[in-house]
This record gives sequence, structure tokens and C-alpha cells, in this order.
Amino acid sequence: MKSNLVIQTMLDHKSIRKYTDEVPSDEVIKTIVRVGQQAPFASQYYSVLLSRDRERNPYKAPLLFTICIDSYKFELIMARRNWKLVTNDLTLMLFGIQDAALMAENMVIAGRSLGLGSCFLGSAPYRTEKIAEQYDLPKRVFPLVQLVMGYPAEDPPTRPRYPIEFTLFEDKYPKLNQDTISKAMQQMDEGYLAQDYYRNLNAKIKLENREETFTYDNYSWTEHICRKWGQWYPDPKTLLEQLEKCGFHITGKRLK
Ligand SMILES: Cc1cc2nc3c(=O)[nH]c(=O)nc-3n(C[C@H](O)[C@H](O)[C@H](O)COP(=O)(O)O)c2cc1C
Repeated sequence: MKSNLVIQTMLDHKSIRKYTDEVPSDEVIKTIVRVGQQAPFASQYYSVLLSRDRERNPYKAPLLFTICIDSYKFELIMARRNWKLVTNDLTLMLFGIQDAALMAENMVIAGRSLGLGSCFLGSAPYRTEKIAEQYDLPKRVFPLVQLVMGYPAEDPPTRPRYPIEFTLFEDKYPKLNQDTISKAMQQMDEGYLAQDYYRNLNAKIKLENREETFTYDNYSWTEHICRKWGQWYPDPKTLLEQLEKCGFHITGKRLK
């Protein structure tokens, strides 16, 4: 494989869940967000909120960014040009998610290159009212994901990924046979077990209607992810309600 400083920095990515007391300088923060902005975009359909209150995030990181899909700001620009949005909110949401995610990941890499660690937090879309209140958000701003950052107080090993053969399919989607699936599962499970990842995080998901047969000696990523997506069922209505509270209406219809 090729290697250089950028590739090494990106391959060295690991989520950080323990932070030192050191507070990143304003210059560091600005650099990270400015690099985030330089990600490719469909419409710069985002805003980034910052809180330096450590108590607002579970890992007590000195920085908490909330990456929002922001139609409000864009509609102000349209109004200045005497335009009104007609594109439906589903389309805007899809592009907004991409814009926001690309920006956020640029921030992660920029942070890492400056010695900072980070970790995404995925619960924001289910806590929109609280976040809207905390940051005084106008309507049509939707908190998509949060990102904590700071100087790492731990140096965990990088976490495994699927074999590239299970990810990159050239020209044609292959027939995935049992052997290929086993290899992918094995790479993930053995990788996480070798780090004692779930034991260290105390993160075994409880089974609802099945008997527990796993211990932290064999509980690993594929079991974890099956339990997560095989049991967790946030009512889609709830998510739609959260979107609507933020002023988004997910239909394929033209907006008036
Ligand atoms: C959208 C998203 C949401 C996530 N939410 C959480 C979270 O709520 N808490 C957490 O500790 N990690 C969270 N993570 C981090 C993942 O657990 C982590 O990226 C994954 O296990 C791979 O590990 P690595 O980042 O160390 O390579 C999230 C990551 C993403 C991309």
C-alpha cells in the first residue's frame, strides 16, 4: 500500500473517549472548522454549533461540536434573491446529510493531524428539542450528529474494518459466499476481541427475548451490531416528529 503523512494520519484514526484537561486554543478550533468547510459540498447545507462546557458530553471532552443540517441560513440567501425553496425536504435532507457528514469527517482528520482525538455521538436527532433550546436554534436547523474533541488521555489501537474484498466490488456486485462472509465476520470479531473492546467499554447490549450465551470472552462486533439493529426500534414516527419540530416535512412534494 502507498503511504504518506495524510494516509498515515487517516489510517491512524480511532475514536477517543478519554480526554486530558488541556483546552484547545481558538486558533486550533478555527483551523479545524475551516478545514471542515473545505470538504466538497452540494450546498454548504450545514452549520456547526460549539460548546466548551465539558458537562454537556458523556466523555467530558473540552469541545462539543453539533453538526446541523441548516436550511434556514440558505433560505435567507434565497429570500435576498427573491426566491423561495420548492425542492422537497427529503431531497434537501439527503444532500444535507452528505454535506454535513463530509464536513464533520474533515474536522476529525484535521483534529487528528493537530494531535486531537474525537468521537462522534449519534443521539442528536432524538434530542432535537433540548438541543434547539440550548442553542436557540431557528426552525429548519436540524442537529444531525455531535462530535466531541480534545487532547487524548488514551491511545487505543485502531479498530478493525471489513477486508477490502468485502467492501470494494469492481464492475459487478459479486456473489457473496459463506466463506467470504465468514472471513469478514472473523476479521471484525477477532480484531475487537483482541482489544477487549466491549469489556473495556462495558458495552454488551442486553438481549430482550433470548437467553444470554455470550460473555466478554466471545462477545464481539458482529454480535453487538446484530443486537443493536435486531432489537433497537425507534419508532420512525418519533424521528419524523423530531424533524417536524425542527420545521422539516419529509415528503416528496414541492414545498409551497
Ligand atoms: C454517526 C456515528 C455515531 C456514533 N455514535 C457514537 C456514540 O453515540 N457513542 C460512542 O461512543 N461512539 C459513537 N460513534 C463512534 C463509533 O462507535 C466508532 O467510530 C466505531 O466503533 C469505529 O471505531 P473507530 O472510530 O475507533 O475506528 C459513532 C460514530 C458515528 C459515525
